[in-house]
Amino acid sequence: MSYIPSPTQAEELLKQYNREPFHIQHAETVSKVMGEFAKEYDPDRVDFWRTVGMLHDIDFEQWPEQHCAKADTLLHELAIDEDVIHAVVSHGYGICYDVEPTVYMEKVLFATDELTGLIGAVALMRPTGISDMEPKSVMKKFKDKKFAAGCSREVIRRGAEMLEMELPELIGKTIEAMRAE
Ligand SMILES: [Fe+2]
Repeated sequence: MSYIPSPTQAEELLKQYNREPFHIQHAETVSKVMGEFAKEYDPDRVDFWRTVGMLHDIDFEQWPEQHCAKADTLLHELAIDEDVIHAVVSHGYGICYDVEPTVYMEKVLFATDELTGLIGAVALMRPTGISDMEPKSVMKKFKDKKFAAGCSREVIRRGAEMLEMELPELIGKTIEAMRAE
């Protein structure tokens, strides 16, 4: 029988396959952001969204060349629920895996994953961090291709399109979600 791990169980699973603090931190950030978006869009399933965020990069540290493909196999072996697996692997759509985000939750994951990296990098540049950050500071850095060059602007842009949201709005919501306690 497959099961949906709780966010705490998902974190334990993540730590079985990841040692790098950076990777664990990223998973926790994306999980938190997913939970905050869920409070607005899918309030009965906040834990489900958090679990997906926690697990989305579970394979990346050990199998970067097989990102998402390995997660597909691994999560099936671990008897994880199909909807969780579909969501996890769909964040590699058009990048490393051919499963398309279909439900809103999957589109939010796709759109916010890279964006949390960009916002985090902007926060590091500011004495006050994320506490009083405005979307326009992030927009400025979004346009500066040399800044945090590893965060794909193209992926963020496609994510915003999937959500039919303007970039500044998506950025604003993601800042707020990252700021939440
Ligand atoms: Fe990620």
